[in-house]
Amino acid sequence: VASLPSAKPKLKPEDFSIQKLSEAHKPRMASFLCAGDEEEAFLKEDALKHQNLRLSETFLLIENQSQKLISYMTISFGSFKISENEPLGGVPIREKQTHIFSSHVPCLLIAKLGTDKEEEGRGGGTFLIDLAVQKGLESNKVLALPFVALHSRLDKVDYYKKRGFLVAFTPAKKNEGTITMYRGLMETAPSLPLNF
Ligand SMILES: CC(C)(COP(=O)(O)OP(=O)(O)OC[C@H]1O[C@@H](n2cnc3c(N)ncnc32)[C@H](O)[C@@H]1OP(=O)(O)O)[C@@H](O)C(=O)NCCC(=O)NCCS
Repeated sequence: VASLPSAKPKLKPEDFSIQKLSEAHKPRMASFLCAGDEEEAFLKEDALKHQNLRLSETFLLIENQSQKLISYMTISFGSFKISENEPLGGVPIREKQTHIFSSHVPCLLIAKLGTDKEEEGRGGGTFLIDLAVQKGLESNKVLALPFVALHSRLDKVDYYKKRGFLVAFTPAKKNEGTITMYRGLMETAPSLPLNF
């Protein structure tokens, strides 16, 4: 059941801090209630263990005034399949065409995104997506990384579309519980040459 949007005001950047998950956040994690059971369970049970193993990193968006955990996001490197001929800077992606592009592409993966159910609609999720893009751009300076991607629940596809994500498979694969979506990290970069 979709919860009603929060009556609380939208967050502005000066209203919160984003902190990397640590042991010290355990009490705040305990009171986090999310409409997504999986998102709530992952944060409470697995996020810190995964982070300690360097499998992923989790970031918490905490409101300054209340010190409440509003939203969290877990990211890692990942890869995903993109439809053949999906354009990337004017270059259709083809398996084994150039041995540079393949239809299996690396990404910064938003593995989990969740907002406390009383805090939905305040912008927490969007600020964390912005952080993922920023982290992707930083990684891109070290080693080429073309996309931020995620596996969206079917009912969240429009949410991510509004935030610049595209559906990776066209048409979407049938009978999947999630739809893979991606957003380019090269949007502002000049178009890639067509033949190289
Ligand atoms: C998805 C989720 C993380 C969004 O977090 P959030 O902090 O509420 O998101 P934001 O406040 O940044 O954005 C809210 C906006 O998105 C819109 N929105 C919310 N769900 C939507 C949906 N399913 N489709 C389209 N738009 C949606 C809201 O109406 C609101 O619009 P507004 O800015 O015009 O008022 C949150 O709803 C959540 O935790 N859901 C349960 C777990 C989940 O589904 N996680 C994602 C798995 S893919």
